[in-house]
Amino acid sequence: MNVNWSKYIQTTEELYRSRDMRFNEQNKEIWLNVIGAKSGDNILEIGCAGGVFCHKLKQYVPNISITGVDLDFAHIEYAKAKSKETGVQFINADATSLPFGDNLFDLCYSYTVSEHIPHEPFFKEQYRVLKNGGRIVVLSVRKNLCVKNIATNISETEQGLIEKAWSNAGENPFASNLGIYEMDEHDYPKQLEKYGFKDVNVNMFTIVDYAPDNYLISDEMAVEQINIQRMHSICSVQKALNINSGALSK
Ligand SMILES: C[S@@+](CC[C@H](N)C(=O)[O-])C[C@H]1O[C@@H](n2cnc3c(N)ncnc32)[C@H](O)[C@@H]1O
Repeated sequence: MNVNWSKYIQTTEELYRSRDMRFNEQNKEIWLNVIGAKSGDNILEIGCAGGVFCHKLKQYVPNISITGVDLDFAHIEYAKAKSKETGVQFINADATSLPFGDNLFDLCYSYTVSEHIPHEPFFKEQYRVLKNGGRIVVLSVRKNLCVKNIATNISETEQGLIEKAWSNAGENPFASNLGIYEMDEHDYPKQLEKYGFKDVNVNMFTIVDYAPDNYLISDEMAVEQINIQRMHSICSVQKALNINSGALSK
């Protein structure tokens, strides 16, 4: 039973709530436009984690069938528990060996997943399960536009704790693989064409992470934004302990 991602990298709830915030009411047209789900489509999400994108798409485009797959067992159990709708299913499976026949889906999409999986099986498998004329959407995040918050310099005590947590972190099976298949946007057409895809387009769009005091967001969103930050901190401690249980004192 593989729970590497949820145990060491990002817990299911961290992913669910932060993505829920990104795919919010104000940004929803951007996502719907870029994913391009159409009524009647049979859709597959690769690396769906707790399933927030599947839930959102089903909510906004009700007449679709959507399946989310993820290698992490805990992510998929969470996704199943959160699903009330029919027409949404979640399967614990490896993107490099999908448990589906050929020519089944109108659309395959993924968000921040292609960076972590070898290109050949990642693209070949989606090509295989897509119908003739089907579409693949590969969404990634370009980090260069982040603005560093200069007000939060890390203290020596904090730095010491981080170093202690990561010392002897040999247990983390992902540490050396994370993000190693990341591509520059110029590489996408070449790679996709190599695996049979045609008419490849590359687009960039911006999603703003609002600060809680931004006047454009509701009080409810502001509180959730603060709570998500708190949750990240708590989860970071838990993950540090999972990696190296002797790292931190109570
Ligand atoms: C950065 S997370 C993104 C999750 C989700 N797309 C989101 O944005 O919330 C990467 C996800 O890919 C999954 N993953 C990694 N390797 C995988 C594989 N070979 N097959 C299926 N899922 C995989 C991880 O378990 C994790 O849930």
